[in-house]
Amino acid sequence: MSQNTAAAVEFARGNQQRFVDELKALLRIPSISTLPEHAGDVRRAAEFIASELRRIGLENVSLVETATGGHPLVYGDWLHKENAPTVLCYGHYDVQPAEPLDEWTTPPFEPAERNGNLYARGAVDDKGQMWMHVKALEALFEANQGTLPVNIRVLIEGEEEVGGEGIAWFVREHGGRLRSDLALISDTEMFAPDLPTLCVGLRGMIYTEIEVRGAAIDLHSGMYGGAAPNPFVALAHIITKLKDEDGRILIPGFYDKVESPSAEELKAWKALPFDEEHYRRTEVGSPELTGEAGYSVLERTWARPTLDVHGMPGGFIGAGAKTVIPAKAVAKISMRLVPKQVPAEVFEQYKSFVASIAPRGVDVSVRLIHSAEPIVVSTDNQFVKAAVEAMHEVFATDTVFVRGGGSIPIVGDFIRELSLPTLMMGFGLPDDNLHAPNEKFHLANFHRGIESLIRFLSAAGA
Ligand code: BES
Ligand code: MN
Ligand code: MN
Repeated sequence: MSQNTAAAVEFARGNQQRFVDELKALLRIPSISTLPEHAGDVRRAAEFIASELRRIGLENVSLVETATGGHPLVYGDWLHKENAPTVLCYGHYDVQPAEPLDEWTTPPFEPAERNGNLYARGAVDDKGQMWMHVKALEALFEANQGTLPVNIRVLIEGEEEVGGEGIAWFVREHGGRLRSDLALISDTEMFAPDLPTLCVGLRGMIYTEIEVRGAAIDLHSGMYGGAAPNPFVALAHIITKLKDEDGRILIPGFYDKVESPSAEELKAWKALPFDEEHYRRTEVGSPELTGEAGYSVLERTWARPTLDVHGMPGGFIGAGAKTVIPAKAVAKISMRLVPKQVPAEVFEQYKSFVASIAPRGVDVSVRLIHSAEPIVVSTDNQFVKAAVEAMHEVFATDTVFVRGGGSIPIVGDFIRELSLPTLMMGFGLPDDNLHAPNEKFHLANFHRGIESLIRFLSAAGA
């Protein structure tokens, strides 16, 4: 380890409490990208990050407005290290809504430390993990007399949780301004506590809404029940025709392009420390696990496509009873996609299939809200090797390679538009409650993540 790397690690260790306090201040800003009433908070979070990037020594720091009119990107760079690679550090500062609020032990936007964890919406997804990048850079600037061992671009978006339309526009139209040798992302999980993990694949997705309209207005269900169509019942019929009881999706052509993982990959997954019963009990909590027969849980969540219903707005949802036949009902339905499925093609297959199974008496329309490509990344490069070594120094054990069942929409664009190798080095834990009540970040992992990033970036520049 070089003297400067040691000094950076020392600096980070000496400033742990300040790093956590700063993260808490960021977590107090409810930057919920999907809710229009929080647009001001989202911008405030962007400004908070931009001013810190300036303070630590990044240059050209700015909020980038996108043509799609959503939340701003935060950009900064430092490009003065000759003969060293350029690393594009990506993260997101937006968060998911915090509901249901009464399930939180402490309020979602009042960060609280308990048992070595920091609880708050966005603690691990992704403000805390993005902050690790910022703090690793601060420590490196500090230890290298205001310089860095590599060239750095930082690009942080505020729309990841709503599909990332703005950043996709920026990468498409201004990709030339992002020229780099690697995309570095900390927005994934470790496979188990103390087990350093690189994520080498993500599922893609299409997120859709089916709207069903029956009667012109809401009707008394006694006066009209029996003669008027019910949009919820129509939706129920449609949904049960999309997926069978064994978890197989019934859209014609849906599986045509699905590619199986290689034999080596499947073999490596079998060797991972995974206890299905523990997973069922502690993470899922249902009486039984469901899904496609013949596939392990890891295959089902990482390498098989699936379809889920997220909510069905409409009708009467207040306490008590109301006898009404709603005029309209909506179902929010998404599909997770795997390599080599193409989101636009799957959407067309789905849309025509839904039209073909629409019951009589109602109008059915299908719209696409957002989509993301599935990806797999190569592990055959110097950056992966450097990351494995860096994490070995911190965790004293070998890295495992996994895929993630979730999606990060911009990664596909980084690969396709910028031809970037991508390193997904995440420090979340399986029980961190992403998108759920009591989201947390294990603080030891926050600090070990910073240290891993310091060591990795130093090695990448050497
Ligand atoms: N960080 C997650 C994605 C993730 C989580 C990947 C765990 C691998 C393991 C990300 O913030 C996320 O939640 N993405 C959304 C994307 C969608 C809204 C377009 C998702 O996967 O639902
Ligand atoms: Mn995330
Ligand atoms: Mn998320």
